[in-house]
Amino acid sequence: MTDHFRTMGQQFGRRSWAEPWKIKMVEPLTMTDPDHRQKAMAEAGYNTFLLRSEDVYIDLLTDSGTSAMSDRQWAGLMLGDEAYAGSRNFYHLEEAIQTYYGYKYMVPTHQGRGAEHLLSQAMIKPGQHVAGNMYFTTTRLHQELAGGIFVDVIIDEAHEPQNMHPFKGNVDLGKLQSLIDRVGAENIAYISLAGTVNMAGGQPVSMANARDLRALCDRYGIRIYLDATRMVENALFIQEREQGYTDKSIAQILKEFCSYTDGAWMSAKKDNLVNIGGWLAVNLADLFEELLNMVVIFEGLHTYGGLAGRDMEAIAIGIVEAVQDDHVRARVGQVRYLGQLLLDWEIPIVQPIGGHAIFLDARHFYAHIPQAQFPAQTLAAELYLDSGIRSMELGIVSAGRDPETGDHRYPSLELTRLTIPRRVYTQAHMDVVAESVKAVFDARERMHGLKMVYEPKYLRFFQARFEPLHE
Ligand SMILES: Cc1ncc(COP(=O)(O)O)c(C=O)c1O
Repeated sequence: MTDHFRTMGQQFGRRSWAEPWKIKMVEPLTMTDPDHRQKAMAEAGYNTFLLRSEDVYIDLLTDSGTSAMSDRQWAGLMLGDEAYAGSRNFYHLEEAIQTYYGYKYMVPTHQGRGAEHLLSQAMIKPGQHVAGNMYFTTTRLHQELAGGIFVDVIIDEAHEPQNMHPFKGNVDLGKLQSLIDRVGAENIAYISLAGTVNMAGGQPVSMANARDLRALCDRYGIRIYLDATRMVENALFIQEREQGYTDKSIAQILKEFCSYTDGAWMSAKKDNLVNIGGWLAVNLADLFEELLNMVVIFEGLHTYGGLAGRDMEAIAIGIVEAVQDDHVRARVGQVRYLGQLLLDWEIPIVQPIGGHAIFLDARHFYAHIPQAQFPAQTLAAELYLDSGIRSMELGIVSAGRDPETGDHRYPSLELTRLTIPRRVYTQAHMDVVAESVKAVFDARERMHGLKMVYEPKYLRFFQARFEPLHE
């Protein structure tokens, strides 16, 4: 391991690590009492997405758009070139993506799903299949709205919360080969590859798997597009777990991984450390031309794509900060700190601990609550009632309904996610969270499930409303 990316503790062979920054500005948190939380939860229909942020103490709903920007990024906002066309910040962003992700062409988008929309519409012909390493909510919906049929080709281990496979995000090449044999390569629009799989618990894909996937796809002329949203976290797992990468920096690993793909879409609200933004980058010139046509309809001119110049500057700076080894190590280190406290108390969580969140295994937590009574949603509600901590459901509610049958999809994983924003909370906050999870765990046998009383048509987890089954 070369010294330039060792943490201070590791340079001296010590185990300690710490954040590579100090705090310059603080934002007060609100403390609430149990009656207040009970009222707020009822008003929110037992859906943590419908709570007001001011009623939340520690907000672990998502790591999306919730990062703390650095002083450099805030300074970058002041350098916004708000010209309608050809903003200098666009060129900074383009250069950062070319340098660190290695793709040739790029269009900015207002956030990740804007990029998912453009890619899905440009690449999918109705009736074609899209093979992916587990679905993601907005990604699959855009693929389906474009007429695609999503097929999960992730390895089986990803569906087993306690399976310790080091790369549970890997694509099962056998499953992909069977799909190719069954439907024909021409009926596969592309491979939708996520770098760290959110729905599987933030689990990584190995470099070897990406390389083998590329070789298989090359035999059939199938394109691979990467959801790069949390790809720097994936790079850390490769550095730690894969032979031949211990001495490579996060930036080197990121670029090699991307080189096995034909392009990537990005929710810059995660890895890129900004509060809003996204991008779509590709290598194929004719696809890029199509994207240039589409971006002006759906997002904005191709040199701003729904973003202000200042936002693009903050992303460009965020990309450079995001690939620093010290940063990624501290970010994932904090997630592991929380996970380890819970494991010490034998609380069921997805293992190995992932990159951005702790995923509580609600199926084991509430073994007595049937999946149709929403155990993970119940757990999210209980955590809020206990201590004002906001988490989110990733289970039957998020999985939605099968477009063919209209029935609930029953995912094998029924999880409640405690998602850690980047550079926001301290280790002491993590202690508070762990103690609250323990208190809810100890009271688990007294809990009842929920019934859904309002269900929106799309992405129901955002706005659905529930009522407790028994008081
Ligand atoms: C893996 C993954 N892909 C795509 C998206 C969509 O990005 P956005 O929320 O910026 O639209 C998200 C956001 O939650 C995500 O976690």
